[in-house]
Amino acid sequence: MTDAHTASTIMMSRRTVVGGAAALTGSLALPRELWAGAPADLAAKAGEAELIAGQKTAVWGYGGIVPGPVLRVRQGDDLRVRFRNDIPHASTVHWHGIRIANAMDGVPGLTQKPVATGETFDYRFRCPDAGTFWFHPHKMSSEQVARGLYGALVIEEREPIAVDADHVLMFDDWRLDADGQVHGASFGAIHDRAHGGRLGNTFTLNGTTAHAIPTRSGARLRLRLINVANANVFAVRIADHKPTIIAVDGQPVTPRPATDGLVLLGPGQRADVIVDAMSAPGTRADIQMVLARDVVTVGSLAYSKDAPLREAPSDAPIALKANPIDERLDLANAVDVAIPMDGGAMGRMRGASINGDYMSMRELVREMGYVWALAGQAGMPKTPLFAVKRGQTVRLTFQNNSMWPHAMHVHGHHFKEVGDAASEPWWRDTIMLFRQQKKTVAFVADNPGKWMLHCHMLEHHEGGMGTWFEVTS
Ligand code: C2O
Ligand code: CU
Repeated sequence: MTDAHTASTIMMSRRTVVGGAAALTGSLALPRELWAGAPADLAAKAGEAELIAGQKTAVWGYGGIVPGPVLRVRQGDDLRVRFRNDIPHASTVHWHGIRIANAMDGVPGLTQKPVATGETFDYRFRCPDAGTFWFHPHKMSSEQVARGLYGALVIEEREPIAVDADHVLMFDDWRLDADGQVHGASFGAIHDRAHGGRLGNTFTLNGTTAHAIPTRSGARLRLRLINVANANVFAVRIADHKPTIIAVDGQPVTPRPATDGLVLLGPGQRADVIVDAMSAPGTRADIQMVLARDVVTVGSLAYSKDAPLREAPSDAPIALKANPIDERLDLANAVDVAIPMDGGAMGRMRGASINGDYMSMRELVREMGYVWALAGQAGMPKTPLFAVKRGQTVRLTFQNNSMWPHAMHVHGHHFKEVGDAASEPWWRDTIMLFRQQKKTVAFVADNPGKWMLHCHMLEHHEGGMGTWFEVTS
């Protein structure tokens, strides 16, 4: 690890509550070293954030801050967190994208009891894959994530690639009212559920609308981009810079330049990119979220006046070592599961079943607040959508019959697009399906337990778009 990397790690953890005073005292007190020892504390609690300069917004955050602390742990080590819930609603912590022990997955009613206000829950699990992950509540997540409960979990490679700095960039959108407060009245709104989810009017990078990332000319940066928005889909762009994608959803890919410099991120998705900062000393480059109908600047790469570190981009290798995913997809003997995705505004869904009872669309909306169905079922069923033995290859065919995009997320496993139409031969935990799109993915179900499969547009999930499957040992 280079000195610059260490320095930036300290800088990133400056605001952490997990490290506490220890994190401020120097390089020996990196948060990751805390994980190997005593459990760290992570509390969900109320706080204030200055999303917009000069204006205070009441939030819920891990440690009371937004984003929460960057948790770091080395690949293969245990993460140990004592979670304390100090918000006025039950909560849990879900470790998004980690191929985790089932009991630690943080899904209330499926893997654990919800953690009531004032209670604690000890999370402890091995982190098998190096990469960029994040954590968030899995209870009332539409509201809890929208109010600011999220943080990054970085699992470091045992032999990291050489970079001069390593930064986490969490992109979010917020729906603020005229007083700059989180718009509370629209939580649970059927309109959001039936359309594109809770879309915001204020856009932030690492909790502010103008986040500066310091750099020096000639430096090589590793940027870990995370879309933590409830439902927004956007591409990240850095003016005048050409990111090279080296990992998606925490899993290494063959390095490739981002097409047109745009890195597309659906809700929950991540991308690790290498950026060689080759602009002139003293300059700035805008960091932008390219949305469907807008481009918003949320920060900048801010170059110091120092003389360039290098005159040409570093030629050090940037390919990451593969993670230990079971890649032996036995497609000839795969269990096939069709997952038609129906509902939403302008859709043709007439009704769906809930635990065997068929309900018309009107009844679903009126009685359950549901507007979506996966494989004909609305809401979380009592029985799994499918159950397989450990080691079985599973092939899921998502067919988006709706007029809205969806970000389909599978817990406990990473999957890969297969078939003729495969557009991304990458291991992912969350995949975008745009309207009317069909994608087939496959994975080896090698992690026993009860796992969710849901749309990561949190209002769609709340509106019925979530189910589960079981892997038996
Ligand atoms: Cu990031 Cu089931 O969630
Ligand atoms: Cu969706």
